Amino acid sequence: MSKEKNSPSRSGAFEAGVDKRVETFTESISFDQRLFVQDIAGSIAHSEMLAQQGILADDEFQQIKTTLTEIKQEIVDGEFKYDFALEDIHMHIEKALIDRLGDIGRKLHTGRSRNDQVSTDFRLWVRDAIDRVSAKLLDLQKAFVSRCDQDVDTILPAYTHMQRAQPVLAPHYWLAYCEKLERDRERLTDARKRVNSSTLGTAAVAGTTIDIDRSKTAELLGFERIVANSLDASSDRDFVLESAFCLTTIALHLSTWAEEWIIWSTVEFNFLDLPQEFCTGSSIMPQKINPDILELIRGKTARVVGNLQALIVLTKSLPLAYNRDLQEDKPQLFDSFDTVIACLELAAPLVEQTKLNRDEIASRLDRGFLDATTLMEYMIKRGVPQRSAHHAVGALVRTAMNERKSLAELPLETFQQTQPGIDESVFESLGVENAVKSFQSFGSTAPEQVALQIAAWKARVSD
Ligand code: ARG
Repeated sequence: MSKEKNSPSRSGAFEAGVDKRVETFTESISFDQRLFVQDIAGSIAHSEMLAQQGILADDEFQQIKTTLTEIKQEIVDGEFKYDFALEDIHMHIEKALIDRLGDIGRKLHTGRSRNDQVSTDFRLWVRDAIDRVSAKLLDLQKAFVSRCDQDVDTILPAYTHMQRAQPVLAPHYWLAYCEKLERDRERLTDARKRVNSSTLGTAAVAGTTIDIDRSKTAELLGFERIVANSLDASSDRDFVLESAFCLTTIALHLSTWAEEWIIWSTVEFNFLDLPQEFCTGSSIMPQKINPDILELIRGKTARVVGNLQALIVLTKSLPLAYNRDLQEDKPQLFDSFDTVIACLELAAPLVEQTKLNRDEIASRLDRGFLDATTLMEYMIKRGVPQRSAHHAVGALVRTAMNERKSLAELPLETFQQTQPGIDESVFESLGVENAVKSFQSFGSTAPEQVALQIAAWKARVSD
């Protein structure tokens, strides 16, 4: 038997053991231990394929499978001992197997390398994690949809440049977020296709001379396809970058929503009351009820963006194929998944339980001339060229501002002075209720359009 120095990856070529500082510096077990389920599934599939190919005896495969399953249970039960000398989860599990099965265990790594093993394990983990995030995204969409009926009569100002722009129905806001989250789900589904490709059996870099069957392991592990080039498989981390990007757009969308609701919950806006279970107090100012959860959702976006940046830089200019740098991909992607899942889990109940202060909102809707664009379009529909109508309404807004009135409070003569031919019907497009009802286009905040969208979303998110 070859002399195993202090690590199983040090072959007979080594004459010296490893410096302890190197063990600490190079270990990944502290973070890749969370791949144990995938590592064991990968090894069971690999040994089953080796048995099918006649490379392992059936009895050897059965012993490997049983022992790996026992090891998994020990890890789940917290009884498994970790040791930096064994570097990563792959070595830990293989060493535990060899300790129990001797030479049978020593056969497991036939036709495989840790390079394809780590890629396989990580792909399996990311595939599951994508499914978890997709489910949480759906929960958040459901939360937004669940508000639509109760808020359907509430009009909110829509803003551009953070200035009051046009009136919209509250569900129009909620469904705007549903649309963004839907694209996030679609992006994840698309990325999942490329994640779900098997690299197992590409071995270190060039493949193997052993007569393995890569389609068998791919099938056993539920992969949809097999990566065709071993050099590519050994070096590829596109699936990590793509997932990190998908998580980044989710975090960015959440940060926009969080920012919006932080502003809306201020005394200045007073549009909504956040549920107190999701607010925190101040240690010095007794009156404070702070939106810390929303602030942290906004703040944690920085980590997710930073992780993507780190991963991009990590893979930049790496020559083919596997380089140890790639070990650094896991902490970042784990953190992005953990962070986004945690944010989504809190976002859903916050969306469901927050109360709109309808009276407060309504009492200030006559500010900001939210109906000015509707008035302009009223004139256009009566034959006034757009530019002239735009100018005329601007002048009416100026007059109203000077007289501290809303547009609806101006007398008919004032409209007629600006645009001859205007009659009483002008008042039917003034005021936020009338303005909202005047919308027509697909995708607008017209009540019929919003009703259609609510119905469509209810159907989409129902199980
Ligand atoms: N711990 C390593 C990682 O996570 C496993 C692959 C090591 N491969 C190697 N040839 N050193 O990337």
